[in-house]
Amino acid sequence: MNNEKNVVDTSNWWKNSVVYQIYPRSFQDSNGDGIGDLQGIIKRLDYLQDLGIDAIWLSPVCKSPQDDNGYDISDYQDIDPMFGSLNDMEELIQEAKKRGIRILLDLVLNHSSDEHTWFIEAKKSKDNPYHDYYVWRDGVEGIYPNDMKACFGGPAWEWVPELGQYYFHQFSVKQPDLNWENPKLRREIYDMILWWMDKGVGGFRLDVIDQIAKEPDLKITNNGPRLHEYIKELSKETFQTGNLITVGEAWGANTELAHLYSAPDGSEFSMVFQFEHINLDQQPGGEKWDIKELDFIQLKQILSKWQVELHGKGWNSLFWNNHDLPRIVSRWGNDEQYREESAKMLATILHGMQGTPYIYQGEEIGMTNVKYQIEEYKDIETVNMYKERIEKGYKPEDVMRSIYAKGRDNARTPIQWDSSQYAGFSTVKPWIKVNDNCKEINVENALENKDSIFYYYKKLIQLRKENPVLVHGDYQLLLETNPDIFAYCRNLDGQRMVVVANFHDKEIPFSLKEEGFEVKEYLIHNYREEKAGYLRPYEAYMAILN
Ligand code: NOJ
Repeated sequence: MNNEKNVVDTSNWWKNSVVYQIYPRSFQDSNGDGIGDLQGIIKRLDYLQDLGIDAIWLSPVCKSPQDDNGYDISDYQDIDPMFGSLNDMEELIQEAKKRGIRILLDLVLNHSSDEHTWFIEAKKSKDNPYHDYYVWRDGVEGIYPNDMKACFGGPAWEWVPELGQYYFHQFSVKQPDLNWENPKLRREIYDMILWWMDKGVGGFRLDVIDQIAKEPDLKITNNGPRLHEYIKELSKETFQTGNLITVGEAWGANTELAHLYSAPDGSEFSMVFQFEHINLDQQPGGEKWDIKELDFIQLKQILSKWQVELHGKGWNSLFWNNHDLPRIVSRWGNDEQYREESAKMLATILHGMQGTPYIYQGEEIGMTNVKYQIEEYKDIETVNMYKERIEKGYKPEDVMRSIYAKGRDNARTPIQWDSSQYAGFSTVKPWIKVNDNCKEINVENALENKDSIFYYYKKLIQLRKENPVLVHGDYQLLLETNPDIFAYCRNLDGQRMVVVANFHDKEIPFSLKEEGFEVKEYLIHNYREEKAGYLRPYEAYMAILN
């Protein structure tokens, strides 16, 4: 009866799973309004089943004024009409289940929208029962409680004259922070999560979860003193009553904290998203927009540190991309001459590691960054930053260079399904411009070409299912100081697998044999055959060793 092909080890089914992230507004429009929706996703489930993924992480689809594209929720128990209805959501959960795919919802629990009834009530008076659902400080207009800044620009405090108080917001003014110190709020959140679990969702991704225990008076945003107490309670009251996959977003995580977040006893989450490798092309002390060249040796060290330190003590999430990050092939690959090779190379490195791989929509066909005029950008973070930096006297071309490299809209352009006018995403002009390269880079072309990036990802997913060494093996970095090659071994019960990747666009002299290894069988290779003694530009493979 059971179509849930991934339920093998019922407690840890997610260990050999691969998750695909959908950013719903850019995935597939089904009703001709230029915005992706739930029926659009249902239409494309067969495609995702063909790719072989086990779960979909859906970026927020709950009711929202869309100030931050849904990460500002005004009703946690309803779907935004832009995406469809609760019935559509139930249909999606069922249709996905038929294909062995689970749906993971994005829980935004650090803040709500200022249009949530809780906040509307909270603002009415200091003794309103909802007032204490948010974080308030008494004060005087114009004199902020302190100098904390919000992530999307401006102060982290907003004045409410009717109350003579400021409320705290780590993101936009329309995203007031929730007060986790209030047990009533916490209970309300748990009941909402149980309600979704009842509807059959397969898990959750928890937005900026390390920021819920903020202590604004101490200027603490993430890793507040009560953080793990809150998470343990949340997990016990909700997730632990089901067989779920849960992943917390934690920009402030280090490997020690990850031992707590992803403790094998399941007391918190299944795993965390950590970002140490993601910050490596940012100038020290700067903001994400202040870019520097990637230090490749450091990249190897950091990813390897996470592999080694979590082995047996926690669980890694493996990702290069998401809706907040630029496209990896444009960032650390080569999106021109070697787009195919470098996209496959980056995938090989990631999918060879221990953890649960995440594929961000469009990554499986090698979608690239975009370079638009400033007026064409929609993201609140990008738009606010542009204004702020221009006012501070930055040159427009320098600001644009940062946006081309790091802007979140790079990942948010519509999926390129085919070469038609709006790339098969919609029949009308989409909410954000389609990438000009949709004529060549699209799903239709990828499916027709057996050597495409799509089939490479499909094979990587299959390999994870067939080779326990990929799921459970330990990890050992090779050639640590080599400036071009990323190579490592995975070992399990006497079986040895090697992953070798040339990270750069030049030919590198290299022979596995000379390193003392003998290949028994190649599992995957992004070039048709070997070139003895060399790795060609972006060449990568996984092989079982003798
Ligand atoms: C992290 C999300 O991934 C991002 O898109 C959002 O803007 C912030 N959290 C605020 O919710």
